[in-house]
Amino acid sequence: MKRIGVLTSGGDSPGMNAAIRSAVRYALNHDIEAMGIFRGYAGLLNEDMKLFGHRSVSNIINRGGTILKTARCPEFMTEEGQKRAVDVIKKNKIDGMILIGGDGTYRGAITLSRKWNIPSIGVPGTIDNDINGTDSTIGSDTAVNTALDAIDKIRDTATSMERIFVVEVMGRDSGFIAMQVGMGGGVEDILVPERKFNLLDMCHDIVEGNVRGKISWIIVVAEGAGKAADIAKKITETTSLETRVVVVGHVQRGGSPTARDRILGTVLGSAAVELLIKGQTGKAVGVISNELNVVELEDAIKPKPTKINQLYELMRMLT
Ligand code: ADP
Ligand code: F6P
Repeated sequence: MKRIGVLTSGGDSPGMNAAIRSAVRYALNHDIEAMGIFRGYAGLLNEDMKLFGHRSVSNIINRGGTILKTARCPEFMTEEGQKRAVDVIKKNKIDGMILIGGDGTYRGAITLSRKWNIPSIGVPGTIDNDINGTDSTIGSDTAVNTALDAIDKIRDTATSMERIFVVEVMGRDSGFIAMQVGMGGGVEDILVPERKFNLLDMCHDIVEGNVRGKISWIIVVAEGAGKAADIAKKITETTSLETRVVVVGHVQRGGSPTARDRILGTVLGSAAVELLIKGQTGKAVGVISNELNVVELEDAIKPKPTKINQLYELMRMLT
């Protein structure tokens, strides 16, 4: 292994920079050159890349986002696009690739490793925490803490003005952030795409609570379970109670990574390089119960088992 390529792809997540820094410096310390590839698979197709030195990754461990920038690249899903990417990899003498991102990025990595025989290792970088083989993905801890901070602030006004708030958090296919902030924020209800819910039952609970004197409610909804505005409208129509809507949005994707995300990025960036050095390909790195864990990329993108029903029951019991 003489030269590796590193890219970030899909939605950015806080801690990706720590992973880039770790992969680049670990490679350089093993006399391997590190090519920084910009804008994910799009940069690969367009040969948008440069060789990184030790100082290319100085002062980034504490920064959110990704210095490599990131993108979505539909062209890489075509045979022609992939062929061009592989030509660029070969032309630039890149012997192995480190791909930091979510399940879409991993699908690209599967294509590169299995179909085109490019040694490729996936590093889980997404706020959604929907990758298998790791307890946590890089960025999910920061995102949860950002959204939780918003919930805490909403609670102040919700309680003071005795109002119902519907708060939308990120997660197009994943209820991870919603469940975490819902549990951590002690909210009244949580709606996630993985769990069926009945809005009329919820409205019934609100009215019943209202009769008992429980007037302020916080309902957290993952974006994949519905739009907060629609849910709030339905609550008002059904209960005649006033509602307010907050969409936490992309603030959840930014900000200085938590210690956990920086450390996870640091551990996994280096682990990915080490796997390439050992001649491995088609693998994804993760940490389970504080131990490094390696799985096949195909297993990493299978649906991640969650304890959503159990957590939901507990949350409801404690409200
Ligand atoms: P994430 O990695 O955060 O889940 P996306 O799902 O948007 O983000 O995927 C990022 C990129 O990965 C896509 O824009 C595309 O370039 C690549 N990708 C996704 N799915 C595939 C696939 N089936 N084959 C090849 N590349 C893919
Ligand atoms: O995959 C990460 C994520 O933040 C999801 O939670 C969210 O649904 C999606 O990306 C938003 O994507 P975009 O930034 O393109 O709106």
